[in-house]
Amino acid sequence: MSLRLLRRLLLLAALLLVIVWTLFGPSGLGEELLSLWLSSLLPAPASPALPLALPRLLIPNLEACSGPGTPPFLLILVCTAPENLHQRNAIRASWGGLHEAMGLRVQTLFLLGEPVRPQPTWGKQGNGLAWEAAMQGDILQAAFQDSYRNLTLKTLSGLNWANKHCPMARYILKTDDDVYVNVPELVSELVRRGGRWEQWERGTEPQSAAVVGDEEQERGGRVLGSEPVPLLYLGRVHWRVYPSRTEGGRHQVSEQQWPMAWGPFPPYASGTGYVLSASAVQLILRVASRAPLLPLEDVFVGVSAHRGGLTPTHCVKLAGATHYPLDRCCYGKFLLTSHRLDPRKMQQAWKLVDSPDGERTVPFCSWLQGVLGILRCRLIAWLES
Ligand SMILES: *[C@@H]1O[C@H](CO)[C@@H](O)[C@H](O)[C@H]1NC(C)=O
Repeated sequence: MSLRLLRRLLLLAALLLVIVWTLFGPSGLGEELLSLWLSSLLPAPASPALPLALPRLLIPNLEACSGPGTPPFLLILVCTAPENLHQRNAIRASWGGLHEAMGLRVQTLFLLGEPVRPQPTWGKQGNGLAWEAAMQGDILQAAFQDSYRNLTLKTLSGLNWANKHCPMARYILKTDDDVYVNVPELVSELVRRGGRWEQWERGTEPQSAAVVGDEEQERGGRVLGSEPVPLLYLGRVHWRVYPSRTEGGRHQVSEQQWPMAWGPFPPYASGTGYVLSASAVQLILRVASRAPLLPLEDVFVGVSAHRGGLTPTHCVKLAGATHYPLDRCCYGKFLLTSHRLDPRKMQQAWKLVDSPDGERTVPFCSWLQGVLGILRCRLIAWLES
């Protein structure tokens, strides 16, 4: 082989590497571009449907979002089952204990229904849940049987609560009790995506206020919640998923619920962690009664969003169903969520990243880890699986 040919081949290989790296590397640009392209396939916004009939609240926790100080910027709704006390406590003792990030308030609440079997009681209180709710103040319970196939009711109850009793929260994260959430990075991701308005709100953009003049300054006058939040439905998006017809399976969807002729589900964000802006929550609640009541809450939210003309935006940092091995750099910096952490692992993950001054004393990532970014996290997850 001539030297010239070899050089060309090397150049070609380098070029290919650069393209692959750009599209599928740390930035996850490829996936996110795909998601942009998909948004052109969606229908125009639809008119509102009938109001939803949702179960009443047994533990309504109406005060959770009010109280002194600013309203929450981010409300985290964690779907949990009545018996999962240890998971809830692991969250309370780890990321759920964070009430603030970048100076913005974060509020975490647990969503549950009624126990199917009688609950063990803790102490003399009789009802363990009522006692837990009184002690912790972070429980929201609705009157429906808590089962996997009722998860859609659970999510809808939570979103409805957020819309009614926490309308000032800008964003709602729906997640599960076996998910690790990187609260500080999630907040900064949302601030980044929210753009200028969020910066106005926090009052960190005084220069441009001076440029645009008094009128604009008045309008942006740091009044919390005075302007609607742009629509956002952010998650790990699943495309072209077909309903499972496996008899008795957890994910079974019947022919009546989703006829074959309808094809695959519209794109939806994995239920392990997706973010809706307050306006997106309103939109979904408005059209939800027209969507088929599928037992899969994440698909249901995707179908409702689709009917309302809202496309999910893909974010590679949200893990979906992936469990990432414990790693300080990934958990501290590059991931927003990781799935399948039992209470012990949740504590271990928290110990890895928790320090009184964040990453100031010891950075989360080495230089090389920083360059490799989420690609490295995905690689170690893939190697472990
Ligand atoms: C869902 O909850 C309702 C209301 O409690 C109950 O009647 C129904 O049986 C539950 N469905 C499942 C599949 O558990």
